[in-house]
Amino acid sequence: MNITKTSNIKNICCIGAGYVGGPTMAVIAANCPDLIINVVDINIDRINSWNIDDLSKLPVFEPGLKDIVEKCRGKNLFFSSNVEENIANADIIFISVNTPTKTKGIGAGYASDLKWIESSTRTIAKFARNHTIVVEKSTLPVKTAETIKNILLSSDESLDKNVKKTFSILSNPEFLAEGSAINDLQNPDRVLIGGDDNYAINLLVNIYEKWVDTKKIITTNLWSSELSKLVANAFLAQRISSVNSISALCESTGANIQEVKEAIGSDTRIGNKFLNAGPGFGGSCFKKDILNLVYLCRYYGLNEVAAYWEQIVQINLWQQKRISALVIKNLFGTLSNKKLVILGFSFKANTNDTRESPSINISKEFLKEGAELNFYDPKVEKKQILREFDDFKDSKISVSKSALGAAEGADAVLVMTDWEDFKYLDWISIYKVMRKPAWVFDTRICLNREEISNIGFNIWTLGRI
Ligand code: NAD
Ligand code: UGA
Repeated sequence: MNITKTSNIKNICCIGAGYVGGPTMAVIAANCPDLIINVVDINIDRINSWNIDDLSKLPVFEPGLKDIVEKCRGKNLFFSSNVEENIANADIIFISVNTPTKTKGIGAGYASDLKWIESSTRTIAKFARNHTIVVEKSTLPVKTAETIKNILLSSDESLDKNVKKTFSILSNPEFLAEGSAINDLQNPDRVLIGGDDNYAINLLVNIYEKWVDTKKIITTNLWSSELSKLVANAFLAQRISSVNSISALCESTGANIQEVKEAIGSDTRIGNKFLNAGPGFGGSCFKKDILNLVYLCRYYGLNEVAAYWEQIVQINLWQQKRISALVIKNLFGTLSNKKLVILGFSFKANTNDTRESPSINISKEFLKEGAELNFYDPKVEKKQILREFDDFKDSKISVSKSALGAAEGADAVLVMTDWEDFKYLDWISIYKVMRKPAWVFDTRICLNREEISNIGFNIWTLGRI
């Protein structure tokens, strides 16, 4: 091991300038002014957007991100498409590339597609120099570190055959949630580092210690760290599916999910966080990580365990199906010649990310029924919304610049994302421009039901009669 180099970490490279790589490296840069951090990506458009002058157009919208990028970019934080050179210069390389669910081949629909992990690892094998610490930041199946190690150690693609290169592999999964990423990174509940090389672990701990209390830094073996990330997401998603399943029972019995949530959440053993019923969880990770966990369980012959966790994804889909079905039922059983407004297209508030957004599935059900849809989201661009509906070329779909604009002549408004703005819309004006009877379907339980009803709307709120 080249002790001189690793004991004096100067240069960090992060492969993948996405929702994790960008914000995570920005926060490290802000807290470690002595480190040079290069975030690299093969997607040149993405890198160009990170380097854009107008900071309101960064590729990732996150409260607080703009200020940090403004402070650090060009000083100790750089975004570049020069992957090879930045790998060669790095003491530590974070791999933060996408790991979506495989769409074909063995494990399709469940296992993670590790092709981006493999290609970035091969690039590291080729261009890294001396000793390099390779950190898994992406969420990965248990034992991926073994694969990474195999590729790094057996690759014969090294450019300089005379220099013996060495690697330490660490797992350092990311727990940030979109919409609160900067706060989560700046004040994490914990930082998890898995590995078997104490020297490398300490170097990474030293970086986090610059702003995170040492007591919050947990070190484990590699496999516990990789597995803990999947399990954390599975437990979080489990709470949402649990509360969503009970929201349906509330609607059948006259109980109110908000009251039930308060009653159970005040038991400190249960806790009151992450108990908001809604249209099902979205986002790029919960579904894929649970399916990955299910795949792993089946791989190890644990079929009952797999079935247990898979049910969380099933309930999530079911919640979306039942919401679209009840909207159709309330609109006299048909959506032909009806216009519906979808308020919110991001998968949650305070992000422009639309991956696995519940709005997508639910909107598709409406389009299949012949509805005309008009969308409004405060942060998602029109082309990003329209891209989701390429298979519905014959449908009438439009995107408006305001909720009021979207509501003209509409029969129903669905609140799909918990954007704070939606609470304060001019609902009286919206009512006036809609066709009657005018419906509001509040899938996020965020509107004042009485106020909306007093205006003249028919209102349906999730989880109550
Ligand atoms: P993303 O799709 O936004 O970004 C990944 C980036 O990696 C893309 O820009 C892609 O072009 C780039 N990339 C892929 N292969 C590359 C290569 N060989 N060389 C250089 N660049 C390459 O994904 P994301 O949301 O940032 O997620 C990344 C990982 O982090 C995933 O494993 C995800 O599960 C995990 N994660 C995501 C979140 C989240 O909130 N999005 C939170 C925690 C963990
Ligand atoms: C989630 C986890 O919270 C992060 O810890 C994790 O790092 C990340 O996944 C990941 O691995 O990608 P994220 O998906 O960004 O973060 O956002 P969440 O706040 O978890 O919300 C996920 C979905 O659940 C959203 O659609 C949200 O609206 C929904 N949700 C959340 C509810 O329906 N009810 C709740 O009470 C909470």
